[in-house]
Order: sequence, then C-alpha cells, then structure tokens
Amino acid sequence: MNASRHIEIAPSILTADFGRLTQQVRAAERGGADLLHLDVMDGHFVPRITFGDPLIAAVRGATSLPIEVHMMVESPGEYFESFAEAGADRFIFHFEAVTGVSEADALISRGHRLGKQVGIAINPATPPWAVFPLLDRIDELVVMLIEPGWGGQPMQADLLSKVGLLEARSRTDGLTELPIEVDGGVKPENAAACVRAGASVLVAGSAVYNDQETPRQAISRLRRALRG
Ligand code: DX5
Ligand code: ZN
Repeated sequence: MNASRHIEIAPSILTADFGRLTQQVRAAERGGADLLHLDVMDGHFVPRITFGDPLIAAVRGATSLPIEVHMMVESPGEYFESFAEAGADRFIFHFEAVTGVSEADALISRGHRLGKQVGIAINPATPPWAVFPLLDRIDELVVMLIEPGWGGQPMQADLLSKVGLLEARSRTDGLTELPIEVDGGVKPENAAACVRAGASVLVAGSAVYNDQETPRQAISRLRRALRG
C-alpha cells in the first residue's frame, strides 16, 4: 500500500461510558479521531443487543466526524432508512447476513441511492475470495480480527494474512483507494502490523475507551506506534 497514506483511526464507542456519551464522543474528536465506529447488534446475528437509531442520532448531535455504523444484524436492509435519517454516513453490513453476492449487490445499490457509503464486513471464518466480486462496488472493506459480539477481545493475528490477500486483490483490480478496515483487538502493540498487512482504517474500541487513559492519550499512543 501507499506508504504516505493517512491511516484513519475509528474509535468504537462500545466500551465508552454511555452515561457521558457526548463528552466521550467529543473527547475522541478532539483527540484526533478520523471517524466514529458505532457497533449495532440485534441479539440475533450476535447474542448481544446494543443500540439503534436514537443513539446514532445522539452521537450525530455531538460530533461533526463521519459516522460509520457496523451492523451486526440479521436483516441490515431493514435499518438503512432509519439509520440514514439518524445521521449515519456509512453502512457496514456483514456478508454473512446476506444470501450471497447478488443480495449484497442490491443492498449496496440501496445504500448508494440513499446517498450513503456502503461497506462490507467479513467474519473470521469467511474466506477472502467470497467478496472479490464486490470489491469494486463498495466504499470500505472491513476484516474482522475477532468473532463479532464483544469489545476487548485479543486480536487473532493470523487473520492479518487475509487482509494482505484482500489488499493485493484490490490493487490487482485497480482499486488502490479502497479503504480496508480492521476491527477487533487493535492496540498500539499491533497497529503497525495491521497497516503493514494492508489496513488503512483501524477500529479501536478498548484501546481508546478504557480506565487507564483519556481518549486523547490513547489516540496519541496509537499514532506514535504507527510512526514506529
Ligand atoms: C465487536 C465490534 C468491535 C469492537 C472493537 O463486535 O465490532 O468494533 O467493539 O473493540 P476492541 O477494539 O476493544 O476489540
Ligand atoms: Zn465493529
């Protein structure tokens, strides 16, 4: 990948203090976050339930950063309109939540017709080639480095080879600008390895929202780790 490319840091608010949501979101923005990553879970695609459009709207009211919504839900298409209304800028749905390439393709078109960006996420067990036919249709590819459902899990570092394969494929296809995001267990210790593998967007949940440091300190630590 292009060595001069700006690496984006996308804090996930999953481990933030929801009682102080506005401050927590603003702290990430002031601390240098590039966008926010909101993890929506429906209790079906993954066991937990997190939040929906009211909280997306609350975050929208607290920041001018772009908002991507990681939809760990069984029927992502059902939520596009309400999430768009709430102020999401990018929908990320799971390839595992659709029946295959043609349903994914239709969902991408729907998101684009709403004027939104669309990304696809793939779980650890999904092979990289499953999404090869969709790479030229999406605005971001999200490679899960953990089983989705919980923040704070350790990264499965062997999955970085999948990132490398997908980055190589997107380059072969001439899609050098396609952002590849990694989600799960990103920390200062492994952030540079993610970028070397081909990621240009790093989701950081517990690395940014934790008891040890402020979001600003945490984001600075990630950036320092990336500078090497
Ligand atoms: C998990 C979510 C992730 C997670 C990231 O299902 O998709 O975005 O919250 O949290 P960390 O960075 O703590 O793994
Ligand atoms: Zn996520």
